[in-house]
Parts: sequence; C-alpha cells; structure tokens
Amino acid sequence: MAELLDGKRIADEILSEVRNDVIGTDDAGRRPPGLAVVLVGGDPASIVYVGLKVKKCAELGFHSERHNLPESTTTAELLALIAKLNADHAIDGILVQLPLPKHIAEQEVLDAIEPHKDVDGFHPINVGLLYLGQEKRALTPCTPSGVIELLERSNIPISGTRTVVIGRSTIVGKPMAALLINRSATVTVCHSRTVDLPAVCREADLLIAAIGKPGYVTDEFIKPGATVIDVGINPVTDPAMAREFFGDDEKRFAAIANRGQTLVGDVHPRLAATVAGRITPVPGGVGPLTIAMLLKNTLKAYRLAM
Ligand code: GUN
Repeated sequence: MAELLDGKRIADEILSEVRNDVIGTDDAGRRPPGLAVVLVGGDPASIVYVGLKVKKCAELGFHSERHNLPESTTTAELLALIAKLNADHAIDGILVQLPLPKHIAEQEVLDAIEPHKDVDGFHPINVGLLYLGQEKRALTPCTPSGVIELLERSNIPISGTRTVVIGRSTIVGKPMAALLINRSATVTVCHSRTVDLPAVCREADLLIAAIGKPGYVTDEFIKPGATVIDVGINPVTDPAMAREFFGDDEKRFAAIANRGQTLVGDVHPRLAATVAGRITPVPGGVGPLTIAMLLKNTLKAYRLAM
C-alpha cells in the first residue's frame, strides 16, 4: 500500500514559520502583513475557500480584509476596488477569487493588480519572472508552489526525474511545469487532447494530477512505486460512488450522511494506492498547502515592499 504524504502536517510547519516571522515584525514595532481577499458573487465553493483564507490570516496575526461584491458587479467597479487596494499601504497582497462571473473581463482584472501585491502569481510580470527562472523576486501561484514545498520537505527528489503533469491550467498545470523545470525535472504536460494518456503517465516517477475529474487517474496510469500528487478537490454525494472510491471507509459514508458530501481528488484513491509508492490524500494533502502558501506569499510581498 502506498505511503500517505501528510500535507496538513507540512502546511502547519510552514504556517508556524510564517507566524514566527509575523511575531518578529510586531516585536520590531512594524505593522503586520495585510491581505485583501475579493469575492464576486456567490459560488458556494469560493465562499468556503475565501472563508478559510481570511480565518487563517486572523490566526496568524495578519491584517485581513474581505470584500464581498454582488454577482452584478461590473468590470469597471472591480477595477476601481483594485486601484484602491493597490494604493493602500496596509495591504501587501490582493487576491481576487476565481472563477469570476462570466461578464467580467478576468484577465483585465488580473492585469490591474500591482505585480508586487499579486499573491496569486497570475500577473503577466510574475508569470514571466517564473518562466525566466527568477523565482526569488517573483510571486508564484500558491497551489503548485505548495506541491513543491510538499516534495522538498518530504525529501522526494525532483531533479532529473521524469515528471508528468496532467492539466494545463494557468492556476496549476502551467506554473507547476515551470516550477519543476526550474528544479531540473524532465516535464511532460498532458491535457484533454493527449493521445494514450495512461501510457504517458506510466512513464512518470512523479505524477501530478490537476484536471478536476473525480477519481480519473486509476492504477493503469501509475508506474509501480511512483509518487502521485493529487491536486483535485471534487465533491462526492452518492454513497455508491463513495464505495467505489473508498471501499468500506465508514468515515466517508458518515460525511455524506452528516454534511451531504465527502471529497475525492482526481486520483482514484483505492486503485492508486495498490500501485503508487507515495500519494497525497484528499482532503489533507495539497489543499492545506495552498492556504499556507498564500500566507507565505503575502509575507514575501510584505518583505518585497519594504
Ligand atoms: N480558485 C481556485 N484556486 C484559486 C487560487 O489559487 N487563487 C484564486 N484567486 N482563485 C482560485
């Protein structure tokens, strides 16, 4: 059976380092780092994620602001808020939760965030710095940066390995590939048009799944002993589906009964565990690292601003 990689433990380690640094700024008589989180509309998953981000800020002694805007917000109104936050000296990081409602010009909004406050790493300047290999002065996207921390802090080799990333999104797949190339992995990026995806994936020592399809990556995608990183977070509401993914794990049925759902990643947990060497669980794998990296990025933005 595959070893489980404990993302929650590593996220807590990062958060405790960030917390110590924030205490240090207070001891030195400086203001705390500040994060503004902007949510437009009422997407249920986004409401949960934004709530978790703001709560973690408070726990770590950050200044945080939550801006909830109605679904009907125009691009111009959102740009006006971004301009205000760009000019606000108490704010080091600005995060606009995605996806935005369809009528908003998303790239125009992301382009308007000051690059040194762009804690998501989605601004073209930060994307460019990442591709140039200049990570020290870039802000890099939270989820793939969290995957790198997870690998490095678990002593899993990256340099020289055959790595396959499934998914080419600008939030995960593309920046993941760039971060891995910067660390000398041999990287293949797969997507919906890839021919014979399982065969390509079976070449990987390190397989990273970020496609948003519940349990899609089965044992036939995995080289025996490979490390499998599951970036997916998909709700499962049907107990029969839960049995397919988790066997007789009573906790999963209890979660569906009590909360209406449990979560499965892009990797089929039961089948993958029979082949993989190491695997990240869902929940408790990559998810907690994303939030930890957002706070670490905000601290970095604070330092870059000094
Ligand atoms: N939606 C899903 N993931 C992310 C993320 O990392 N940042 C933002 N802003 N929105 C998201």
